[in-house]
Amino acid sequence: METTGSDVQVKDPTPRDVPMISMQGVNKHFGDLHVLKDINLEVDRGQVIVVLGPSGSGKSTLCRTINRLEPIDSGTIAIDGEVLPEEGRKLAQLRSDVGMVFQSFNLFAHKTILENVTLAPMKVRKKSKAEARERAMALLERVGVANQADKYPAQLSGGQQQRVAIARSLAMDPKVILFDEPTSALDPEMINEVLNVMTSLAREGMTMLVVTHEMGFARGAAHRVVFMDGGAIVESAEPAEFFGNPKTDRAKDFLSKILHH
Ligand SMILES: Nc1ncnc2c1ncn2[C@@H]1O[C@H](COP(=O)(O)OP(=O)(O)O)[C@@H](O)[C@H]1O
Ligand SMILES: [Mg+2]
Repeated sequence: METTGSDVQVKDPTPRDVPMISMQGVNKHFGDLHVLKDINLEVDRGQVIVVLGPSGSGKSTLCRTINRLEPIDSGTIAIDGEVLPEEGRKLAQLRSDVGMVFQSFNLFAHKTILENVTLAPMKVRKKSKAEARERAMALLERVGVANQADKYPAQLSGGQQQRVAIARSLAMDPKVILFDEPTSALDPEMINEVLNVMTSLAREGMTMLVVTHEMGFARGAAHRVVFMDGGAIVESAEPAEFFGNPKTDRAKDFLSKILHH
């Protein structure tokens, strides 16, 4: 029997329509406190989502559940079509696909900038030292701190440290990067140097979930804004729609506070 091209069925293991992040019916409690309430959120490949909401609304917890720094009570979370397991080798693999950049930089204080960026690629991705260094230097160059490679974190400004933290994330070739208020601990003059790096990542198609109060970034770089309050997603809309025409009183109240100070 002859086979023609049309008989050959090639199965794509991760069809393009699979979201990069998928949260379905996710609930989480801290004791009696219901911190995530039936969260349903899908982030497509290359999409940039900004998460807004008042303090205590569950934004950090949302980020932490996405790479299982926090366990969930019910629901499912999948990264690129793979449901996050509770533990084990598979979890480590999936977790390393999800970069995370925190408010507080979280660099290793007793390692140089270069070592901070090469450590995980050597340990987790099994890259050679030479290979890891070459990539790290290229990434440090890209975020504008290559000349600081041999210094220790404390010798750098907050803005420089945060850019190193972004380079460290990128060194793992993550599928998605979560940013939890990456500029909130920075002096005002350093905020833009970090936002500029994030904006260029967004333009290049990195999938990003960003918790931030930087409305300029939300308007300019986000495909969608998700507004959380009291542990629930209350609104989800394109930035122009969300800022121009917020639907709920809670979002209107939040915006009036954040835009008028
Ligand atoms: N480890 C924890 N144990 C108990 N409660 C927590 C813990 N982490 C956060 N919370 C509570 O969960 C709620 C959501 O917190 P969080 O996700 O940090 O909100 P946000 O980042 O939006 O400010 C808050 O009421 C907070 O006090
Ligand atoms: Mg937070």
